Amino acid sequence: MAVVVIVSVLLVGLATSGGLQNPDGCDSGAVFKVKDLDVKTFTDAKDGPNLRYYRYLLVDSLSQTLFVGAMNKIYGLNLGDISNKEGVRQKDLSPDPKDIDMCKIQGKKVTPDCQNHIRFIARNMSNSDVLAVCGTGAYNPKSYQLNIQYPRISILSLTSGIGKCPYDPFDNSTAILVENNNPGDLPALYSGTVSDFIKADPLIFRPALHRSDGSKAVDYVRTLRRNPKWLNEPQFVGSFDVGDQVYFFFREVALEYTNCGKKIYSRVAKVCKNDNGGRAVLNKVWTSYLKARLNCSIPGEYPYYFDEIQDVASFDGETFYGLFTTNINGLTASAICAFSRYQIDRAFNGPFKDQVDSRSNWLPVPDDDVPKPRPGNCTIRNTRGLPDTILNFIRSRPLMDYTVAHQYGRPVFYKSNCLMQKLAVAVNESGNGELVFYTASNAGVIYKIFAWPSTSIQKAPHSVLATTFRPFQDGRPIWSMQLHNNHLYLGTDSSVTQLNIVVCQQYAKVDHCLFDPYCGWDRFSELCRSIKFSKGLITYKNIDQSKPIEKAIMIALGQPLFSLKNISRYSGTSLTLPVDYKLHIEGTVTWTKNNNVMNSGKPILAHDNSLIIPDLDSSDQGVYRAVDSKDNPVAEYRVSVDTTKDDIEKRWIKKFDAWCQEFEKYQNSIRQWEQKCGACCDNPSNAISQFGGK
Ligand SMILES: *[C@@H]1O[C@H](CO)[C@@H](O)[C@H](O)[C@H]1NC(C)=O
Ligand SMILES: *[C@@H]1O[C@H](CO)[C@@H](O)[C@H](O)[C@H]1NC(C)=O
Ligand SMILES: *[C@@H]1O[C@H](CO)[C@@H](O)[C@H](O)[C@H]1NC(C)=O
Ligand SMILES: *[C@@H]1O[C@H](CO)[C@@H](O)[C@H](O)[C@H]1NC(C)=O
Ligand SMILES: *[C@@H]1O[C@H](CO)[C@@H](O)[C@H](O)[C@H]1NC(C)=O
Ligand SMILES: *[C@@H]1O[C@H](CO)[C@@H](O)[C@H](O)[C@H]1NC(C)=O
Repeated sequence: MAVVVIVSVLLVGLATSGGLQNPDGCDSGAVFKVKDLDVKTFTDAKDGPNLRYYRYLLVDSLSQTLFVGAMNKIYGLNLGDISNKEGVRQKDLSPDPKDIDMCKIQGKKVTPDCQNHIRFIARNMSNSDVLAVCGTGAYNPKSYQLNIQYPRISILSLTSGIGKCPYDPFDNSTAILVENNNPGDLPALYSGTVSDFIKADPLIFRPALHRSDGSKAVDYVRTLRRNPKWLNEPQFVGSFDVGDQVYFFFREVALEYTNCGKKIYSRVAKVCKNDNGGRAVLNKVWTSYLKARLNCSIPGEYPYYFDEIQDVASFDGETFYGLFTTNINGLTASAICAFSRYQIDRAFNGPFKDQVDSRSNWLPVPDDDVPKPRPGNCTIRNTRGLPDTILNFIRSRPLMDYTVAHQYGRPVFYKSNCLMQKLAVAVNESGNGELVFYTASNAGVIYKIFAWPSTSIQKAPHSVLATTFRPFQDGRPIWSMQLHNNHLYLGTDSSVTQLNIVVCQQYAKVDHCLFDPYCGWDRFSELCRSIKFSKGLITYKNIDQSKPIEKAIMIALGQPLFSLKNISRYSGTSLTLPVDYKLHIEGTVTWTKNNNVMNSGKPILAHDNSLIIPDLDSSDQGVYRAVDSKDNPVAEYRVSVDTTKDDIEKRWIKKFDAWCQEFEKYQNSIRQWEQKCGACCDNPSNAISQFGGK
């Protein structure tokens, strides 16, 4: 019975073997589905099928807690295992019914719009038992101080959150809690969001700061109200505390693009922490606000620009990695570009850009026309004492002329047909600085990308998309992605998911294994292992980088990447020729017989690329060779068919031989089923669907 099913699966494989490419053009490297992965999930059991919108995650290593901002709730989960219900905390933060009514009256949907979506959580460093939290509050943003002293979460204070987080739970906003170098040395929140219902007033904002006795130390400061030169329909993606300034990353409609049509550019903007705004001109408005375009492009006579920043990450506050896409409506492509603080500040210290009137070109402002002290210089102590000439200059010229150059003059990584929207980055600080990027698509797919530093500082690192994780059964947007130790934490509308990213044992191909700097290939057991726990492994670092990868791996292994095999079988039996190539094969595999391409005829191509020759006869003798899409050989067999005596004994052997082969397949499928499913497998169709696939 099982044998029959297996054969039909192989035939299905044949039917689809013409289209071996993945429907999602982005998948690459080793592809792992949810059943191959160590995935832990948290959902609020009370919800049933309802969405809880788990959109903000904060990893708090101090308390080993993952704080989750959801709709009307905040959760504290076990960081080590979010599915462990023990010690899970939660606090209801449902909105005021009056706010829900107001929101409804203005035409918004009760769910999800008119609910309180937590869009920001930060630990208040000056008081480690306090979390600063902001939620949309049914289109009336609310700011909370929460006491998180174990085992409870309770509200210490509730104030307006306008300017700190958005009205609309779908808005792209950012905020950061900054402890040092603020006026009065008070901790302060810096945010990039909108401050009104209709999103006409985007802003970068720092609320008024109060001393511990409650008295006001400084008033709020913000960007100039409704001035497109300052912010023009921005979508914020990140903010960073860097010394005496705060950086904001966003994309916006580019005012300086004067050709027809609308163009989005990506920006980094900065404000100085000690900025208290001007006195008459720019009262309660940043006097140090500067912004510059980020250049993420593939160089050439006509550089190819990735203009829409989607996310930004940094592990040291010195280099900022931006995830960029082309315009989503056009041909989609994604890129990661690196920007150093030096290059960002170089743009801020360079010429300003200006347009004399609305019909003229945008040009650099001559040095002589820039007032002194230079606007934006964070050494200016008393911004309220600045003369009007300086304030008026910056009021109309926040844009810099230089673009921020990306490191190496080219992306660290890029790929077409790919829409990546979230980014996390890690580095091996003790090693040679290998970088690991994790990106998330808007359809629930995670990509692991490695970048090895190149031999020269000028040259871009060498990068590969090594692994594709599909941790969800469905395609769902990932709103938040946090990396901590060996896990990724993913916030989606229906669950919080924890994904173990160390998957060495899962790599079946040597190159996939080596591309992962956490892993190495064990030549003797022919398995991929974690370098943390095994010695003497072949790793990417110790193969010869100057040679093509196939050659380098072959030398390191000390053996060819596939072996030539002579096979002899009796006529009437069937034969399977597997592709046992040690590296992964990109694209399609083509089989030839005696150097002729096999288009039609008896042999069957299975979906793992092996060739099945049923009912052998003398015409099937010959040399069978498989090549990949670049014509590299990946398998070779010399097949001879024994037709000498078709006597009773031979016929018996023939039948026995065929039976043996089928029995072996059957055993294999059972073994695979047991391996993949473990003890908990109760659906035998799982076993069948796995046969023959890899
Ligand atoms: C936020 O950004 C995403 C893409 O990064 C976009 O699809 C979405 O429309 C943006 N939200 C709003 C409200 O514009
Ligand atoms: C930190 O917590 C204290 C209360 O313990 C509060 O007074 C202060 O405003 C908080 N700081 C921020 C930036 O939220
Ligand atoms: C900022 O001002 C200080 C003190 O006047 C000066 O030394 C420094 O060069 C200035 N920086 C820039 C970039 O103009
Ligand atoms: C962006 O960088 C590329 C490569 O370094 C360069 O060729 C191009 O001129 C730059 N574009 C802008 C607008 O600065
Ligand atoms: C980081 O580098 C050190 C030193 O080369 C090495 O021992 C360690 O295994 C590396 N870790 C990873 C995860 O690559
Ligand atoms: C296979 O057969 C060919 C030709 O008969 C012979 O030269 C070769 O050595 C054989 N290879 C193996 C691995 O037996």
